[in-house]
Amino acid sequence: MKLSRRVTETAPYLFHLIDEKRKAAQEKGIDVISLAIGDPDMPTPDFVLDLMNEEMRDPRNHQYPSYKGEPDFCRLVADWFEKRFGVELDPRNEIMATIGSKDAVSHLPFVFIDPGDTALVTDPGYPAYESAIGFAGGSSIRIPLVAERRFIPDLDAIPTDVADKAKFIFINYPNNPTAAVADESFFKDLVSFARKHDLVILADNAYSEVYFEPQDKPISIMQITGAKDLSIELHSFSKTFNMTGWRIGFVVGSKVLIDSFLTLKSNFDSGVFMAIQRAAARALAHPDAPLFNEQRTQLFKKRRDIIANALSQLGFKFDLPRASYYFWVRIPEIYSSSVVFCADLLEKQGLVFTPGVGYGPSGEAFFRISMTAPDDNIEKAMERLRNFVKGL
Ligand SMILES: Cc1ncc(COP(=O)(O)O)c(C=O)c1O
Repeated sequence: MKLSRRVTETAPYLFHLIDEKRKAAQEKGIDVISLAIGDPDMPTPDFVLDLMNEEMRDPRNHQYPSYKGEPDFCRLVADWFEKRFGVELDPRNEIMATIGSKDAVSHLPFVFIDPGDTALVTDPGYPAYESAIGFAGGSSIRIPLVAERRFIPDLDAIPTDVADKAKFIFINYPNNPTAAVADESFFKDLVSFARKHDLVILADNAYSEVYFEPQDKPISIMQITGAKDLSIELHSFSKTFNMTGWRIGFVVGSKVLIDSFLTLKSNFDSGVFMAIQRAAARALAHPDAPLFNEQRTQLFKKRRDIIANALSQLGFKFDLPRASYYFWVRIPEIYSSSVVFCADLLEKQGLVFTPGVGYGPSGEAFFRISMTAPDDNIEKAMERLRNFVKGL
């Protein structure tokens, strides 16, 4: 079979591999608890389901959608954006619907990368950034994120020639996997850096609504003066409304950038089911949305505290997550590989965490715990971790 190098030379997706390992352990009869994947365990809230029921029954939603996103979708997103971030966007030209933010992550590199080009990514980082850059024929230059800098990249440490050559930089705050948040001053520095080196910023804001304290409320890069002309920001409904399976998100940026993405995407897919677009956009303005958000925050805060207490008692080193669903924790010192540590946990306790190296070489000394499992499973998982540590 004559497969392309694109396929043969790309490692299978991290979470696919983890899922396979979990299944294999279950087939061996091991009772497995997985805190590996960032997929909310709670259903999509009723008010969104009710909106979807209405929209699904509307025959005007049953045909091909527009490539860019329905005008009312874009208008409602613009209204939300202004209310949430204080930024005015032109719904006709500066917003585009996507099939979740992964659609944007995996296709945006094709807008900028020609074979042989380079792009900057953070290490650790969401694995799809590097694979997408590779699929487009480019290569990724990794910028390490370290605990000492609270997992914010050191832009001054990037050599000038490397920055000048790169086409874009992928950044992601609130961050998966480190749960770090970035403040306005970082975004300002980033915009100046991008302007100086003629780089585009691809700012993945998929977790913008998942945070714990008001002072950590994520901002949009679009709040920074001049950012719109050189950035595309990626948004998602997946984490905001427990809608991971629905596949809907959007990107925002200048007309030129959005039009360039549209040229590409209109050749790849035929848009998002209109009923989903309309239900999602109406959810943003729904009177039940703020209460849902608050309840979700409280639920994750409770889980965060259960996990943080257990980890502290067991002597694990970590920063308390400020946003997103994740704990980014140092593996015990007796281990030198995050994969070996996670494999031991699975074998001895039926517990699945994600090995940090799956997010890049700088993640080798870490593992990631996701809070998206029912409370009981989180309690049980911490009990199993206690037993594991006792046996070390
Ligand atoms: C950082 C980051 N970006 C993007 C995505 C993709 O999310 P979706 O395609 O569901 O919007 C994820 C999913 O976990 C993520 O962690």
